[in-house]
Amino acid sequence: MLKRRQLLQLSATAAAAAGLGLSIQGRANTPALITKTIPSSGEAIPVIGMGTSRTFDVDASDEAIAPLQDVLAAFFKAQGSVIDSSPMYGKAESRVGDILRNMAARPPVFAATKVWTEGREAGITQMEESARRMAVEKFDLIAVHNLTDWQTQLDTLKRWKAEGKVRYIGITTSHGRDHDEFLEVMRSEPLDFVQFSYNIDDRAAEEALLPTAAERGIATMINRPFQRGSLFGITRDKALPEVAADIDCNSWGQFFLKFILSHPAATCVIPATSKLHHMEDNMQANFGRLPDAAQREEMLRAFAALQADA
Ligand SMILES: NC(=O)c1ccc[n+]([C@@H]2O[C@H](COP(=O)([O-])OP(=O)(O)OC[C@H]3O[C@@H](n4cnc5c(N)ncnc54)[C@H](OP(=O)(O)O)[C@@H]3O)[C@@H](O)[C@H]2O)c1
Repeated sequence: MLKRRQLLQLSATAAAAAGLGLSIQGRANTPALITKTIPSSGEAIPVIGMGTSRTFDVDASDEAIAPLQDVLAAFFKAQGSVIDSSPMYGKAESRVGDILRNMAARPPVFAATKVWTEGREAGITQMEESARRMAVEKFDLIAVHNLTDWQTQLDTLKRWKAEGKVRYIGITTSHGRDHDEFLEVMRSEPLDFVQFSYNIDDRAAEEALLPTAAERGIATMINRPFQRGSLFGITRDKALPEVAADIDCNSWGQFFLKFILSHPAATCVIPATSKLHHMEDNMQANFGRLPDAAQREEMLRAFAALQADA
């Protein structure tokens, strides 16, 4: 069995060779880990990450932490590494940190948080506090949450990146439409990552956000992949369409995640869950085949038919 790091190296090499930023590597009969590359560095990351909004905002009691420990263990077991949090998510950063600190052997983590405050000093204090809370020495990614005081915070982040205090910098939003300012920052600032919402039912990001990310060589981290869970209301008790088997999906959750990842400009996606069985389900989308353009159209037709029926 290949070790995770070996797999990532293999993936990065193949992706670089293909110049595509996408790699699906594996041996015969082994589900293949899917990675995509961060354009600004060429680093490969697994495509399924983890969000923490609401799900990890719990008290520090053993009772509250135990199920999340299982959720995170399943995430790592399936070779997940990208964890997204924010000081906006209440106690979420601290709970991730508690669990990481208690792990006997800590797996590789791509730790991402956000800065969400006004003013230079307040931003710095908040980012330092986030690192303590989430138990990371240095964040892989810090993004300006919802463009809050973005000029000030991005100034600090650019400086921190130059000084080696953070590896990647970016901006986030939860909207895909009417976001002229977000696009303006994408066009004018040296960003490694952008984060915004995109899913099979909310495709506004296809208009400008995803094409601009591709044009500018910015990695994308996709939030709200399940529209905060409401997509499952449309598919409840409905059979998966035939195309699902061709792209190694055996649940609607995997179907929704692979739809997003079939967009060439989607780098990774960060579904959130508080439940072990949902994490195990979602992480299966970290492996196997991704839809091609024709299969993607078929997925859209199948979902539209369900919506029309609902
Ligand atoms: N502006 C920003 O920067 C911004 C904005 C929004 C979100 N985000 C980030 O993006 C992450 C994801 O977005 P989100 O949390 O809003 O929504 P989401 O991931 O679209 O949906 C989460 C919901 O889906 C349910 N779920 C997860 N997996 C499932 C499965 N396999 N089957 C059925 N239900 C499932 C979860 O419930 P269970 O707990 O019951 O599984 C939860 O209620 C956030 O956690 C956050 O890290 C950032």
